[in-house]
Amino acid sequence: MNLKDLYINFFVDHGHKQIPSAPVVPENDPSVLFNTAGMQPLIPYLMGQPHPYGKRLCDYQKCIRTNDIDEVGDTYHHTFFEMLGNWSLGDYFKKDAITWSYEFLTKHLNIPVERLAVSVFAGNEYIPFDEESYNIWKSLGIKEERIAKLKENFWIAGETGPCGGDSEMFYWRSNDPVPEVFNPDDERWVEIWNDVFMQYVKNEDGSIEELPNKNVDTGMGVERTVAILEGVNDNYASSIWSDVIELISKISNTPYKNNEKSMRIIADHLRTAVFISADNAGIKPSNTDQGYILRRLIRRAIRHAKSLGIDINSNWEQEIAILLINKYKAYYMELEENKDIILEVLANEKTKFNRTLEKGLKEFMRVTQERRDIDGTTAFHLFDTYGFPLELTIELANEMNLNVDIEGYKEKFKQHQELSRSGSAEKFKGGLAGNSEVETRYHTATHLLNAALKQVIGPDVHQRGSNITVERMRFDFNCDHKLTEEEKEQVEALVNTWIDAKLDVTVKEMTKEEAIASGAECMFIEKYPDIVTVYTIGDNISKELCGGPHVKNTGELGHFKIKKEEASSAGVRRIKAVLE
Ligand code: ALA
Repeated sequence: MNLKDLYINFFVDHGHKQIPSAPVVPENDPSVLFNTAGMQPLIPYLMGQPHPYGKRLCDYQKCIRTNDIDEVGDTYHHTFFEMLGNWSLGDYFKKDAITWSYEFLTKHLNIPVERLAVSVFAGNEYIPFDEESYNIWKSLGIKEERIAKLKENFWIAGETGPCGGDSEMFYWRSNDPVPEVFNPDDERWVEIWNDVFMQYVKNEDGSIEELPNKNVDTGMGVERTVAILEGVNDNYASSIWSDVIELISKISNTPYKNNEKSMRIIADHLRTAVFISADNAGIKPSNTDQGYILRRLIRRAIRHAKSLGIDINSNWEQEIAILLINKYKAYYMELEENKDIILEVLANEKTKFNRTLEKGLKEFMRVTQERRDIDGTTAFHLFDTYGFPLELTIELANEMNLNVDIEGYKEKFKQHQELSRSGSAEKFKGGLAGNSEVETRYHTATHLLNAALKQVIGPDVHQRGSNITVERMRFDFNCDHKLTEEEKEQVEALVNTWIDAKLDVTVKEMTKEEAIASGAECMFIEKYPDIVTVYTIGDNISKELCGGPHVKNTGELGHFKIKKEEASSAGVRRIKAVLE
């Protein structure tokens, strides 16, 4: 029996009613483009409204998380995924939830307890340490060394809404011996399930109140858990994907090995496109909101199909979509019902993009011949004339170590919108315009992080890559070891000291030679023009060749926090951080 059926049967046997998966496009929640967790469609009921199916519910929910589109291509990121969940709406609480989680993992999925570890909420200034969960895990046989008390074990879907302390379960996914003591920073411990004890609501003004009910919300990612159960380290090697990858391999007449990234992108993006198009919301590729995401996914998949040598005018994407539809239709009826629509969406978007892709790629090669960064006008031209979503241009540019002037692009886009009087510039925010202030703040924080790493790790640390979204910054740098907790803390503290010191950010034009002589940091000197701009923070805290834009004063940045530090490639580490 497969994981979804096992899970549902288990919770139905424990008095839960199975509820159908909600559509991926939320029906009554304009605050998000897609459902990102199983609990999202249940928010009104977690807030106290009675649910027609009762107080114990379970389901598998279609989810889409778009923050990480550009990360897809590695072994574990997906834009679409299924989340298993069980809920108590003011019925059972910690004891039953944890006991059933334990029982399902160890007795039904047969995961040896030696490979499990858990974390519980350590408490903060408002809410105490979750001693109850700690003791329940202990009574079930989890050793104390395998129970981490963590401050970050607090779950909320966004900024506001139902929330609470949570308890996460981890599996040791490695052939290395399982360590006695659980270290949550060790990436070989993979999170598989999360039990959230939702007894609070966070309001707009930041205050936290008790909910009328003590609820339970849990979430288990299907893709990850199946990969674990099947003993593979690459999610795309599990039975969820193997036939899809095999088909892509057959169509492209190339092996998976050495072509993993493009094949994963095609598999993932087409699956998500299939599910978005299957929704009765009737989303079609467009330049706004969900339609823009759909367009980006299909066009990125096409670009990677082309790079694998697939004849993109053949019906390759129909074949893959049909396989996906057949694979999932027993669980999601809308796939069969809207099959013709799905296939038509893909075919139409492909025809549209194929008309200009070849010419657009030629134009891209022409404009990058001199290995100069891509200015806003060119990026907009690639979008407007050749249908290249901005993110596609960025991806192509990144492959050549070039940058794109995103601000300049947005400026052009705005001018164009004003000219065409479409008046929908605001709506486009869901896609990519707007948000420039947030990105500017992250941009300046990147310089501070670079400077802090040099102080903490050593002067030979240099930037190897950077990627900024409105949610977070990502910074790659050379370093021969995983940062220790202490190093991370020092880096964070330094950046925050500089933020708190409200340092001025100044900009100066100079020749390339002057810039180098002044000791300014720069990544690819050969690709800068003769006259460059150098941004300096404070009295030489940081000095970097850069096109900007930056904030005027570091006081504008907020609080800097490292969310993750991991390997990016050999000798290169990656930090993901946020400004809170
Ligand atoms: N809502 C919780 C999560 O997504 C279960 O992790």
